[in-house]
Amino acid sequence: MKIFRLKEDLKSYLHTQNDEKIVSFVPTMGALHNGHMTLISKAKQNSDLVVCSIFVNPTQFNNSEDLEKYPRTIDEDLAALNDLNCDIVYLPEVSDLYYENEKAKQFHFNGLDKFMEGRGRKGHFNGVATVVEKLFRIVNPNIAYFGQKDIQQLQIIKHITKQLDLDIEIIGVPTKREESGLAMSSRNKRLSESDLEKATLIYKTLLFIKENAPKYSVKELKEISIKKFQRHVELDLEYLEIVSLENLQPIEEYNEKGHNVACVAISISSVRLIDNIIF
Ligand code: PAF
Repeated sequence: MKIFRLKEDLKSYLHTQNDEKIVSFVPTMGALHNGHMTLISKAKQNSDLVVCSIFVNPTQFNNSEDLEKYPRTIDEDLAALNDLNCDIVYLPEVSDLYYENEKAKQFHFNGLDKFMEGRGRKGHFNGVATVVEKLFRIVNPNIAYFGQKDIQQLQIIKHITKQLDLDIEIIGVPTKREESGLAMSSRNKRLSESDLEKATLIYKTLLFIKENAPKYSVKELKEISIKKFQRHVELDLEYLEIVSLENLQPIEEYNEKGHNVACVAISISSVRLIDNIIF
C-alpha cells in the first residue's frame, strides 16, 4: 500500500498508471469502521486501483469542539486499509489542500441543502463540497463511493459532480449496521455502553416508519415517531423529516416505493448521530 502526504506526489504517481485502469476513490475522515471497509471492499471488486483519502476537513465543521473531538486513529486506519489491500492512501495536512485562511467555496445545491443537515449545520455542505471537489480533481477517479448513512451528502455530491461536469460515477453504498441496528459511525466511539443502548431507538423508529408508511399519513407518522424520541429525555432530537429521495424536500404525500426517506438527527451525551431509511 502506497501512502502519499502531498497531492503533487500522488498526482505524479497516478499519472504513471495505465490510462485503462479503473480508479476508485473512497474519501474519508478516518476513524475507519466496518462501514468504510464495505466501501473499500466494493471499490476493490469494481476497479483496478483503489485510492482512499483520510482527512478531517476543517471547513465542514461549524463547531470547533466537534472538529477537535473528531476521533483520530490513524495507525489503526492504515493497518485496516493495508489488510484490505487498499492500493493508495492520501493523508494530507490541511496545508496541502487549503491555502492559509482559505474558506469553503459557495456552491448552489438546488435546494438539496435546505433542510436537515443543511439547516442545523450552516455552511457544512459548502465545506464538504469544497473538499470533495479538491479531492476529485487530485485523484480524478472513474468511480467514487459514499455511504448512504449521509444521504444528504450523497445526493449533494451527485449534484455537484454533474454541476462541475466531472466524469465520475458516484455510488451510494447501503448503511452498515451494528447487530443492534445502530448505524456504524466514527462518532459511536464516543458513546458509553448505556448510550449505545439508548441509540438503538433511532433505527427501531426508522423501521417503524418504513413498516407503517401506508397505514398513517406522512404527518401522522412523523408525529408518532417524534413522540417516541420525546419519551426519552436523554435523547435530544434535532430533526425527524420524511422527504423525497430525489430533491430532499419534506413531503405531504408518499412518493412511489423506494423514493421516500425518513431522516433523523439526535444527540446523546452531546454526540450527534444521524441515520435514515429509504422506503
Ligand atoms: O463523509 C465524510 O467522511 C466526509 O464528509 C467526506 C466526504 C470525506 C468529506 O470530508
